This record gives sequence, structure tokens and C-alpha cells, in this order.
Amino acid sequence: MRDCGVGFVGAGAVADRHARMLNEFPDVGLAAVTDPDEPRRAEFARTWRARPAADLEELLDAGVDAVYVCVPPFGHGRIEEAIAAAGLPMFVEKPLGLDLEVAERVAAVVADARVLTAVGHHWRYAATVRRAHELLADRPVRLVAGAWLDKVPPVPWWSHRDRSGGQAIEQAVHVLDLARLLAGEVVEVHAVAGAPAAGGDVAGATAAALRFADGAVGTLSATCVLGWKQRAGLEVFADGLAITITEDGIAVRADDREPAWEAVDPDDAKRAADRAFVDAVLGRADDVRVPYAEALRTHRLACALARSAEDGEPVHLLEEPNG
Ligand SMILES: NC(=O)c1ccc[n+]([C@@H]2O[C@H](COP(=O)([O-])OP(=O)(O)OC[C@H]3O[C@@H](n4cnc5c(N)ncnc54)[C@H](O)[C@@H]3O)[C@@H](O)[C@H]2O)c1
Repeated sequence: MRDCGVGFVGAGAVADRHARMLNEFPDVGLAAVTDPDEPRRAEFARTWRARPAADLEELLDAGVDAVYVCVPPFGHGRIEEAIAAAGLPMFVEKPLGLDLEVAERVAAVVADARVLTAVGHHWRYAATVRRAHELLADRPVRLVAGAWLDKVPPVPWWSHRDRSGGQAIEQAVHVLDLARLLAGEVVEVHAVAGAPAAGGDVAGATAAALRFADGAVGTLSATCVLGWKQRAGLEVFADGLAITITEDGIAVRADDREPAWEAVDPDDAKRAADRAFVDAVLGRADDVRVPYAEALRTHRLACALARSAEDGEPVHLLEEPNG
């Protein structure tokens, strides 16, 4: 039985990954897909037995129950607004946009429309993150050290800031989201960026210092000049406790105990994020951990970091108007 018919806006790599996960669920059907790249749209439609739609309007008319927005950072805005106007739930891939303007506007529109939203910060569904949360329950975080040390992803838009937003906004945002979850809100960020990586104007390296409202301090290091993914993750330190989290596992060293590494399958968190969204759409559960408004707080931090790197000045993050 197909209870939930999903439409896809964007038929690239991440759409394919979501389709693979959703296809495993017996109560989900991949109903329709639109993408201006016609061969891609056709291929996705053939692979997942979805109806190809010429544009967003046709997709929204196809009777879908929910929409996955899997477009590059420059593509956000009008898509989410149209889905909200149609009253449909949406799963939006990170980042929310190139900058803050579009994301703040969309946040207001989806809040007014009261539609269900989820954003692709799937790390929050990892068993490792739950474990870290538990370990930190009675020990305040003192220091976080985030890192995204990688290659340039193989998509044509990534190396251009006016297409991707740059590495902090596009990639390291996963780590910033985790830092917020485990150490609380950031009130000040000061970042510096090095020369562009080859082939575009995205900085080849970025380093940032962070001050958290609850007293912790932190760093973020990012580079995209490697030919491989060296490491992406977060180290968290509290009194007598050191935790390292990556998508592949967690290492914990506590008090006088020997360090231990526990591996996880990164697909588990991705699958759990998709399942939680579908269950929320079907009214069966309420475990969307990063709705649009929560992702906006992380996006504000990533944008503040990018602005600090650009201006060479610290940026103070203010409390949002409605708390
Ligand atoms: N959460 C995660 O772990 C994760 C992983 C990979 C990618 N992503 C994010 O997903 C987004 C897409 O990444 P990708 O790797 O799939 O990129 P991609 O380039 O492979 O695919 C993007 C697709 O969107 C299409 N597109 C562009 N504008 C569109 C529009 N207005 N309407 C419909 N389709 C449009 C493009 O033609 C392309 O086919 C990025 O923002 C990326 O950061 C998230």
C-alpha cells in the first residue's frame, strides 16, 4: 500500500539518495519529479518509476502528498514558497540558501502557511549524537573543535560562491548544526579565509573561533583543497570527557577509562531522517528534529561565519526577535 506519494524538485545526487531510502519504505511511492535538466529528470523518473513533470506547477498538480526540495543552494526560495502555498509538507536539503535573505523570507512563509517542514541535517538522527548528548547531560561543554577537511565535491556549481555560498554554508553547516545541538547557541564568531581553491572563488581554507552563550568556546577548520575526504566531524570536550563524532562513529574517552571507538553505518541516520519525515506527514509520529525554523538558526550561524571571513571582523549573533 502506498500511503505517501512523494514529489522531487531536483533530480541530482542527493535526490537519488533520498529516493533510494524512500523506496525501501513500503508505504511510500515516488510519485513525480521535476528538474530543468531534462535527461536527468527522465533518468530519475525511469529509475524510480516516477512521473516526470515539466515544471514545479505540474509537479504540484500531480497529487503528491509531500515534496523533497533537492536543488543546489542558488535554487531555493520560490520553490519552497510555491509548495507552502499549495499547503504541502516539504523536506528541504541544506543549505537553506546562498545567504540569509531567502531563508528568512521562506521561514516566514512556511510559518504563516503552517506546513510541516524538515531539513536535511540528518546527523541529528545518529545514535552517536544521542550518545554524546547523554554523556554531556551533567557536564557543561568547555570546547568544541569542528572540522570539514575535504575535496571539492564533483558538482559544477560548488566552486562558485554565488552558486554554493562557500564551504561553511554549503558543507560545514552540518558540523555547525551539531555544535549548536551539543554546546548551545553561538553568540560571536570571528573567521578568516585563505586564497580561493582552484577553479573558482570559494576559499580553499577557512578558520573560525566561536563563543557560545553558555560559556563554551570553539573552532571550525575547513578546507576543500584535498583530493579526498580527510575528516568531517566534531570534537567536544568537557571536564574529564573527550568525544569525537564523525558520520562513521564516535570515540569517547571519559575519566580514567581507555578510549573506545564505536562504528556506525552513516546510512542509518539518513534513513531515520527520511522515515521521521514520512511518519510526520502521515501523522504517525512527531520526530522531525530539524524543522525549517531550527535549520534557520544554524544557517544564520554559517552565514555569520562567512560574513566574518569576508569582512575580517567578528560578527555578534543577536537573539532572534521572538526568542
Ligand atoms: N544532507 C546531505 O548530506 C547532503 C548530501 C549531498 C547534497 N546535499 C545538498 O543537496 C543539494 C543538492 O546537491 P546535489 O549533490 O544533489 O546536487 P546536484 O547538482 O547533483 O543536483 C541538483 C539538481 O537540482 C537541479 N535544479 C537546479 N535548479 C532547479 C530548479 N529550480 N528546480 C528543479 N531542479 C533544479 C539541477 O538541474 C540538478 O539536477 C545541495 O544543497 C547539497 O548541499 C545534502
